Amino acid sequence: MDCFEVIGGTPLQGEVEVAGSKNGTLPLMAAALLSNESSQLDGVPALRDIHTLAELLSSLGLNTRFVAQSLQLVPSGQDLWQAPYDLVRRMRASVCVLGPLLARTGHASVPLPGGCVLGVRPIDLHLRGMESLGAKVDLAEGCVLATAPKGGLPGGEVDLSGPRGSTVLGTANVLMAATLAKGESVLRGAACEPEIVVLIDFLNSAGAQIEGGGTATLRVQGVDEIHGLKGNVPPDRIEAGTLLLAAAMTRGHVKLTRCPVPQLQALLDTLELAGVPLERGSDWVRVHAEGAIFRNPVIQTAPYPGYPTDLQAQWMAFATQAEGTTLIREGIYPERFLHAAELVRLGAQIEVSDGSARVHGPTRLSGAPVLASDLRASAALVLAGLVAEGKTVVKRVYHLDRGYERLEEKLSSLGASVRRVVDEMGP
Ligand code: EPU
Repeated sequence: MDCFEVIGGTPLQGEVEVAGSKNGTLPLMAAALLSNESSQLDGVPALRDIHTLAELLSSLGLNTRFVAQSLQLVPSGQDLWQAPYDLVRRMRASVCVLGPLLARTGHASVPLPGGCVLGVRPIDLHLRGMESLGAKVDLAEGCVLATAPKGGLPGGEVDLSGPRGSTVLGTANVLMAATLAKGESVLRGAACEPEIVVLIDFLNSAGAQIEGGGTATLRVQGVDEIHGLKGNVPPDRIEAGTLLLAAAMTRGHVKLTRCPVPQLQALLDTLELAGVPLERGSDWVRVHAEGAIFRNPVIQTAPYPGYPTDLQAQWMAFATQAEGTTLIREGIYPERFLHAAELVRLGAQIEVSDGSARVHGPTRLSGAPVLASDLRASAALVLAGLVAEGKTVVKRVYHLDRGYERLEEKLSSLGASVRRVVDEMGP
């Protein structure tokens, strides 16, 4: 098992390009199940989650092939509709094969993905959505079994709003099913995240008829078939945000290119409130934080265009370097604070209670071995290691490899001392 050795204390400097988006690519891959034609996605990041979904799609009769940064998805002509538990349990996003399988074959059997370190993570909104489109949904032996009426899903009125706003993958899932429905569907309370807008653009280019992308109401006129999906996946707003926070907290000077600037509005505004000097263009951002003193704006994570939950842990690492007490409220996953205890091992002063954290700063962090609990928590620990005195060893970086492409190489190219090594001590 690999770990990262990070020696802190070097301000990041230089220029780096943002990779393709993990959460943008996953639904596009699942959407390739909707078509009888081949799909090709370009600029796909080399990530563990992408490979896991590719394996799952192959098991469902969609042959996948990586050629450099392109992913080809070629239908084998077999109408397989039972997703194997061994693959689904590895990644929650696997649930988004439910909608396309149901729409194309009339059946889908997908094991319940289960909880994860972010909390219980139900899929009730996905299932309610499929029922509203006319499917029969049963739960048995840990599996969801969804069946369309003879002749296909009729389509219908769907409400996707849950206790914490909409659901991103739930919106993708129901939208994909509605694409091939017999009639019109209206999805209310839909997620407005950029990843949904990208999915809609790709589907419409392939012949789907979907209106309202980027708003909470989507109108879908079902079509009999769509072509293969083709195009470039967009840059990853969460990788971009992570790199900007790394540049800021090391008081570095970094230009980020191929940067999805409009999608980062909430982060960029909050960085400016915190006193981080920034310049931005249409697709680049420059942080020049040499000698900056950081303030402590309140962070409240929320659905897009609010501050993203996937950048909460990284902000917590940043907040250890800000003056005073930073309040962080988690509005999407109230239990997403496992990174706090590990940051405390590095010397951070953090209290967590009732879905909020208070970070008292600035603190001089000092290197130590720490355990990554999930993808974004791992990134936060690496960021903290970049400013800690001495050596931080971040264990279980397989979490990080799920969603960051060669982060150690990107940070090293900016002058950081980050090395991937085999963890001799074990997990
Ligand atoms: N929820 C329900 N019922 C449902 C679905 C969701 O109550 O049926 C709740 C969740 O428990 C949560 C909230 O609704 O409180 C939002 O969850 P959502 O369904 O939007 O999350 P997701 O679609 O499963 C995606 C990203 C996550 C990201 C969230 C929120 C992918 C593959 N995953 O998950 O990304 O945190 O949206 O923005 O797109 C990550 O990349 O590290 C990651 C966890």
